[in-house]
Amino acid sequence: MEEDQRVTPYPSGESVGAFYDQMSAFFASVFGEHLHFGLWDQDDDSLMETAQVRLTDRLIDLLNPRSDEYVLDVGCGTGHPAIRLAQRTGASVLGVSVSSSQVAGATAASNSAGLSTRAEFVQADAMKLPHEAGTFDAAWAIEMLFHVPDRRHVLREIRRTLKPGGRLVLTDFVMLEPLTGQEWELLAQGFAFSSLIHPDSYADVITRAGLEVVQVHDVTAHTRATTRGIAARFERDKEQLAAVYGTEFAAQMELLLPLCLSLVTDKIGYVIAEARRPHGA
Ligand SMILES: C[S@@+](CC[C@H](N)C(=O)[O-])C[C@H]1O[C@@H](n2cnc3c(N)ncnc32)[C@H](O)[C@@H]1O
Repeated sequence: MEEDQRVTPYPSGESVGAFYDQMSAFFASVFGEHLHFGLWDQDDDSLMETAQVRLTDRLIDLLNPRSDEYVLDVGCGTGHPAIRLAQRTGASVLGVSVSSSQVAGATAASNSAGLSTRAEFVQADAMKLPHEAGTFDAAWAIEMLFHVPDRRHVLREIRRTLKPGGRLVLTDFVMLEPLTGQEWELLAQGFAFSSLIHPDSYADVITRAGLEVVQVHDVTAHTRATTRGIAARFERDKEQLAAVYGTEFAAQMELLLPLCLSLVTDKIGYVIAEARRPHGA
């Protein structure tokens, strides 16, 4: 049951790459270094960065790679989640992103962390991963599937590149209430949203991609503080942001960001899912 009333065309991988080439530095200024929503205990007043590291660490614990394993990071952002995974577990990671500037930034961050041989980054589209079948022991895809029109296709690509028995952990936005065409347009413009499914459909989409579902956790309640945190940070820092990114861009964000954030709060939830490629398949 994929509910989708969008009227704007689906963005291509190239246009999502161009979006992040333009927006990554700004997002890092208002979200933090890990380009994701973070995880909060109810009523906690952590900083955004603390919540982000908490989510990354939760996902590392779920994936639990051994030091001799090779992990694929699909949609690697700034590279910081992959670098933390490599540091905490000793595993090697390959991060892919459609954004060339993210790949350059992630490579520089890995070099400065002394991890150039264990946390590497390349430009690639998850709709067509350039890796051989059975390359990776494990994979994660943190907040990237909402950028593609067909998440089942990407999940199939991840399945192909995993070894039999290989594990996958992902996080994704889910649609709690149907969105109007105008709301889709806002989310496409502000955050490059491409598609969303209902949380009840999640396990089915994973299964139809040929993966075995381990568990789907609805953690919406633990991401609700994020939109408030981002809005407050933007309000506090907007003059400084205008000085860095230009007044025209900051004025555009001042209009768009609150609209997108309130839409996310009202209609969009968040899941963490664990899956694996079945043995012998
Ligand atoms: C919201 S950011 C999340 C970044 C990172 N996973 C994190 O948690 O910090 C989404 C990421 O997905 C990447 N992405 C979007 N569509 C992609 C595609 N088709 N193939 C590869 N990466 C993609 C973007 O370039 C960006 O790095």
